[in-house]
Amino acid sequence: KKRKNGYVPSRGLDYSALLTFGHTTSPSSLEDEVDKKKFHRDLPPTPVFAYGVSEHTATVPGPTIEAVHGIDTYVTWKNYLPSKHILPWDPTIPTAFPFSKKGIPTVVHLHGGIDEPESDGHPNSWFTAGFKEKGPTWSKKMYHYSNMQQPGNLWYHDHAMGLTRVNLLAGLVGSYIIRQHDVEAPLGLPNSDEFDRPLMVFDRSFLKDGSIYMNSTGNNPNIHPQWQPEYFGDVIIVNGKAWPCITVRRRKYRFRIINASNARYFRFYFTNGLDFIHVAADSAYLRRPVTTNEILLAPSEIADVVIDFSKSKFDFAILANDAPYPYPTGEPVNDANGRVMKFLIKKEQEFDMWRVPNQLIKYLSPDLSSASHIRYIVMYEYKSATNESTHLYINGKSFDELVTETPKTRTSEVWNVINLTEDNHPLHIHFGLFAVIDQTELLKVEEFKSCMMRFNDAVKCQISKYTGGKRLKVPAHEKGWKNVYKISPKYVTKILVRFSYIHSNASYTFDPTVEPGYVYHCHILDHEDNVMIRPLKLVN
Ligand code: C2O
Ligand code: CU
Repeated sequence: KKRKNGYVPSRGLDYSALLTFGHTTSPSSLEDEVDKKKFHRDLPPTPVFAYGVSEHTATVPGPTIEAVHGIDTYVTWKNYLPSKHILPWDPTIPTAFPFSKKGIPTVVHLHGGIDEPESDGHPNSWFTAGFKEKGPTWSKKMYHYSNMQQPGNLWYHDHAMGLTRVNLLAGLVGSYIIRQHDVEAPLGLPNSDEFDRPLMVFDRSFLKDGSIYMNSTGNNPNIHPQWQPEYFGDVIIVNGKAWPCITVRRRKYRFRIINASNARYFRFYFTNGLDFIHVAADSAYLRRPVTTNEILLAPSEIADVVIDFSKSKFDFAILANDAPYPYPTGEPVNDANGRVMKFLIKKEQEFDMWRVPNQLIKYLSPDLSSASHIRYIVMYEYKSATNESTHLYINGKSFDELVTETPKTRTSEVWNVINLTEDNHPLHIHFGLFAVIDQTELLKVEEFKSCMMRFNDAVKCQISKYTGGKRLKVPAHEKGWKNVYKISPKYVTKILVRFSYIHSNASYTFDPTVEPGYVYHCHILDHEDNVMIRPLKLVN
């Protein structure tokens, strides 16, 4: 597909003082040279919540954890957060709430990790500073990540009940890579610090004093005084810097791009037409590389791409974004949130020993006939009389209602995910990996929706009668094993979820059936908090 290139600047920006790309630096020092609280040289320091190996070395994003396949990682996550939050939160949505009313609950989830439930960062396993108070499912201080899964890209972030959107917005994000030398080295992909980097991208708005701006009045203040259905910021931050500009050599680089925004989808492209060669999506390698000229990335999705700057006809390349927000029918981007970062490309053409092989890694193929259960997962949005969103549910249920998704370990299931809302939702399933099988448009949605609103039962409402519309193609670079997928509005998206490893039939070194179990949810954090999240309990 040919796309329209070219960046057209216009007027009327709130962030005019910031609209220069930041310092020039090399990718390997992108985040290191920044004062951890300075998102831009022209912006005063920003109060943040941050991860670090000590209280004094915390950064946004936090340090990248490099794990080795087959070797355990143990992390004792400690909470040094202050007694009051730096952002407005809303006690009227189901929220982690310390009795003493002191301290900020947090709990860490390793996104994409196939780990024991006690270390999975269940929303009710939160704790406050000094482990003074703990949520009802808290069970241990030291988390255990077994790293027995396939090599790939993960990230860690806060997951506290009802506070996830504000805790991430405050800065609680970091990346985590599992490497497996014997499997990855023969591929020949760029793999040294300088040429292989995570890029963690998110949007933020700031006040003049440098603090993060979040609207403190809800869209339905009588129901929820603070909660807003989506947070969007105008400044695009990459690895802790606003609109950075980095110098690269004229050769191949590998970037593991993580969308760590609350609600913003990115559709990345290069204004001068450079391509992206996808080698992995979320936490798993693709079977074969796929070349595209844009990347649509929902919150929490990861695109792992090689960019070959030797192919550039120019000495710079601007990475831009043109995804409407909310996606897909919201506002078009503006000059602030439409630009992401700039690469200055050195003149000298370099010889480059890295390559992108024709074959990457072959995992088990999704086999529909292996499915032991078929489920219907329905996304609902409830609105006030003034047509404003009040809350979002999965299957018409709040989070505390009894668990309904109880797959057997080491089986696969078909989930038909039915989106009855106007917006796209990134569905994320803890523990399982899934393959997207197809996406079929719903016919006579209103009729089906009114039946569902009454009975909340897709089979009783004769779902098969309503699924005959258009089909959406699954893009080639998203045909592998994913842990997040973009669920299109008014479509049924059929996925095959696998509750065992994709690289072997090995069993777990832990028991995935113990309390508190797992969760699955929409990864628009403002939706997840109110309360587009449900428990997931594996059984034997
Ligand atoms: Cu990225 Cu349940 O989380
Ligand atoms: Cu959502």
